[in-house]
Amino acid sequence: MPRFSYVNGRYVPHAEAAVHIEDRGFQFADGVYEVISWIGGHFADEVGHLDRLERSLREMRIAQPMPRRALQLVLREFIRRNRLKDAYVYIQVTRGVAPRDFKFPQEDVRPSLIVSAIGRPSFDIAARKKLLKKAVTVPDIRWKRRDIKTTSLTAQVLAKQTAVDRGAYEAWMVDDEGFITEGSSTNAWIVDKKGTLITRPTDHNDILKGVTRNAIQALCKKEGVKLVERAFTPAEAYKAKEAFITAATTLVMPIVEIDGHKIGDGRLGNLTEKILDFYFAYAADEKRRQERWTPK
Ligand code: PDD
Repeated sequence: MPRFSYVNGRYVPHAEAAVHIEDRGFQFADGVYEVISWIGGHFADEVGHLDRLERSLREMRIAQPMPRRALQLVLREFIRRNRLKDAYVYIQVTRGVAPRDFKFPQEDVRPSLIVSAIGRPSFDIAARKKLLKKAVTVPDIRWKRRDIKTTSLTAQVLAKQTAVDRGAYEAWMVDDEGFITEGSSTNAWIVDKKGTLITRPTDHNDILKGVTRNAIQALCKKEGVKLVERAFTPAEAYKAKEAFITAATTLVMPIVEIDGHKIGDGRLGNLTEKILDFYFAYAADEKRRQERWTPK
């Protein structure tokens, strides 16, 4: 089946999709991005991702490439042309193409917008429950504005590769005070011995305000799950009853070993399973909402 990507106003065969070598995303990582799951015919948390994209653009002082409604139409046309059932949709906006110079280019330089599909996701809940992953901890060597979803991901690339080299799936990054910030591309959660869910707060801009995290936070409130927002250390995580990660890609993924320490009994924990069920039910409900959705 032909595969298309969207590049600055055109749907082009994926193999030919390209940007200029002086795109500031290419030379300075001067851009922002989002990943949204397209699950069986609908976007998961579309509004949250588009809100965060617009916020990242504002924080980076990059102009919005088009109004939200227009972008939503581009995303749907992209899905239609690729006949996608399940996918991770990647959206990237950079400051545009200009001769290499650190300061911002002239105002008439338009931001670049690309949309492509990445990975081959499986959104089968039963299969998801069997994916039990390991994590390792690594120092967090990133810049301080981790709330902005920039394409500057070198620290995360190194962290993830360290995890893979150590036989794990994810790297949990640790700040200078010895607390876990988040995963290289996920938010980190633990459940303590009393059954309280713990995750780091997002109000200091030192981690990404995960859209999946937000949805789960709201679901926990609704379902009466006790959630405490506070930083936790690796030592605390080793002793946790359960652990998991969340992201648009991983959704809710159990972590059963951290730095070689078995978490709980090394199997899918009860609360993690409950949250996975909540999240999938919520995503299915969002599908019903989107079936009625028409761009205004
Ligand atoms: N990453 N923390 C970091 C550092 C991330 O890169 C991500 C997402 C998350 C989870 O955010 P959300 O729930 O909104 O996806 C947390 C995406 C999926 C990526 O880079 O592929």
